[in-house]
Amino acid sequence: MTRQPLIFREISALRRAVAQWRAAGETIALVPTMGALHAGHISLVKASRAHATRCVVSIFVNPTQFAPNEDFSAYPRTFEADLAKLAEIGCDGCFAPTAAEMYPQGFSTQVIPGGPALAGLEDRFRPDHFAGVAQVVAKLLNQAQADAAFFGEKDFQQLAVIRRMAADLDIPTQIYGVPTLREPDGLAMSSRNVYLSAGERAAAVTLSQVLCESAEAIRGGAAVASVLSRAEEKIAAAGFALDYFEARNAASLAPAASLADGPIRLLVAAKLGKTRLIDNWAV
Ligand code: PAF
Repeated sequence: MTRQPLIFREISALRRAVAQWRAAGETIALVPTMGALHAGHISLVKASRAHATRCVVSIFVNPTQFAPNEDFSAYPRTFEADLAKLAEIGCDGCFAPTAAEMYPQGFSTQVIPGGPALAGLEDRFRPDHFAGVAQVVAKLLNQAQADAAFFGEKDFQQLAVIRRMAADLDIPTQIYGVPTLREPDGLAMSSRNVYLSAGERAAAVTLSQVLCESAEAIRGGAAVASVLSRAEEKIAAAGFALDYFEARNAASLAPAASLADGPIRLLVAAKLGKTRLIDNWAV
């Protein structure tokens, strides 16, 4: 049986519902998204059930985290289909504010994250991206006043930035990371996968394959530097323009030269045609 989520367009309406639930002894989870919901997002809602009795999914394509040359206007917007998916899973609320509700006239506060936001991964290629993410997530966490918030591990550096930001700003919401959901062939689920042509979609599987075999090789004792350069060659051979393929400490995101610098996380970003894909893998 499907149950339509309550739709909140205004921060005040979201806050009222959350306050009522809390007064009734319930606990609240927030799942921040930019919509174009897929099974990966739904897995975040499912994960929230172990930690809260109510779940609100926010849908907001946040303009401040896109650079002028990025895909803000092309980003898939599928609100009715998203609502149907939320109804199917029995999500309680959907917070879908307008840009004017989020950034009203006169808005002028920036959130400039440091630490993991400067790890030299995504930040090298998207210099203002994490300031936009930190800004909107700080707002969403304050707006929802949830007990817990859920983010995918697919955006591994983003998750680290959000954890750091929430801790530094004393935001009391507990931040949870949820493992990446994958297509049957291993491609990490992403709203941007819809951009891939049939040929690109077939080639895209290379990223997860190379991540998986590189992790196995490092676990088996191969030297990290040679595994990374072999991985770079394979990804380029599949037609990608590689931004980075790196081994980092999973907690600090500092470069990892050997297993002793671990636990290691392998992280990749590469472009296939116009589509930029990211993924990561635990060693
Ligand atoms: O990961 C995303 O979809 C976005 O960066 C987030 C966390 C919803 C902030 O806009």
